[in-house]
Amino acid sequence: MNTLVLDSAQLHAGITDPTIESLGFLNEAGSRYPDAVSFAAGAPHTSFLDDVDIPECLDRFTGYLVQERGLTPVAARRLLQEYGPSRGIINDLVARALTLDHGLAVDASSIVVTAGCQEAMLLAVRALCTGPGDLLAVVDPSFVGIVGAARLLDVPVVPVPETADGIDLDELRRLCRGARSAGRRVRALYVAPDYANPSGTVLDRAARLALLDLAEQEDLLLLEDIAYGFTAPPGQDLPPLKALDAGGRVILLGTFAKVCLPGARVGFAVADQRVRDARTGQVRSLARAMAELKTMVTVNTSPIAQGVVGGMLLRHGGSLAGLGRAKAALYRRNLALLLEALDRQVAAAVPEVSWNRPTAGFFVRLRLPVEVDMALLERSAREYRVLWTPMAPFYLGGDGARQLRLSCSYLEPGEIDEGAGRLARFLKDVVADAGTTA
Ligand SMILES: Cc1ncc(COP(=O)(O)O)c(C=O)c1O
Repeated sequence: MNTLVLDSAQLHAGITDPTIESLGFLNEAGSRYPDAVSFAAGAPHTSFLDDVDIPECLDRFTGYLVQERGLTPVAARRLLQEYGPSRGIINDLVARALTLDHGLAVDASSIVVTAGCQEAMLLAVRALCTGPGDLLAVVDPSFVGIVGAARLLDVPVVPVPETADGIDLDELRRLCRGARSAGRRVRALYVAPDYANPSGTVLDRAARLALLDLAEQEDLLLLEDIAYGFTAPPGQDLPPLKALDAGGRVILLGTFAKVCLPGARVGFAVADQRVRDARTGQVRSLARAMAELKTMVTVNTSPIAQGVVGGMLLRHGGSLAGLGRAKAALYRRNLALLLEALDRQVAAAVPEVSWNRPTAGFFVRLRLPVEVDMALLERSAREYRVLWTPMAPFYLGGDGARQLRLSCSYLEPGEIDEGAGRLARFLKDVVADAGTTA
């Protein structure tokens, strides 16, 4: 049988997109160098996965369906076994968690439960952007998932530079006005205001309010990703943009991957904006409209996976923050250990390298005096057995060429120390080599 060869130039550009490719490379490098210390992926610590008793979670959730929703035991079981509503089956529990954790009064009908936050991003961008005239702005640098989703949908993406304490709002305003005068519009901005991936930046309260004001003035929607908000040190958590959102500008995007388990692939969007049907005049929530689009993407989020997440939430009194508290403490401990190990092992050995000092989140950003690319990562993995993530793929604007990202969320203290030592040796040699060839 002949094998048909397809020319990638004749396929969708996403297939050869360097951002998407770089993630594939990272996954593959992890399995090629199993003895490497990996500071690469922002994955949850495996000890928390071992604690999850999946049958117990499902029992607890079906018990809830019977006792609180009045289903018969057979109907409760069927709800997990059959196709389900595309909007989800744990919307009430998600709404309750948002109320408990953030004081957000959200109606379950304003929520769509998605196959991870990734699908929530895809659906939000698809619903909002109607054609090439609609631009998606993203804080630069941003999580690659949002840029990747926009690229899959052929939605043009424009960068808004990050500043030390937030976003360059002047540039965002300039972009909005420039687009308008060219007959286009910046439809939405993607922003992760709490310990962003990859930069670790936090928007303070004033920055949040200023961004909401700008969204109102420039008729912009905000896609707020709260993935790492739960890691905030006690007493330092800030209200989500959605909790300050008097004008209904914010679509909240959430994930259960970091707090429950990534393998469940459950996330959600809160989209309480109203949509009026131009033909029938009927009004429904944007979440319901997104759920309709979802029927053509994943049909519905696995009810079994939702049941596991629902059971975990119920076990912790319905609070996502309650579920995440012990985990957040471990992540902050690891971050402190990483910063301490960098200070002790890298600072003296390679004074040309510097880094930020986030107090929460999963990531530390290193600035190097040399360019960082995939070839350098390959060398780091092969010769020094340490993996990290180049920052360039997170940037649209071309910055980040001399930066790398470290994540320590799933490492043990000894591995963090060993990894920092390997990194110090690697960086020392790389900087010395650059000095000799300069
Ligand atoms: C900022 C951010 N949002 C969303 C996600 C993905 O969430 P999910 O696994 O639910 O698709 C990640 C995963 O790393 C992330 O860092």
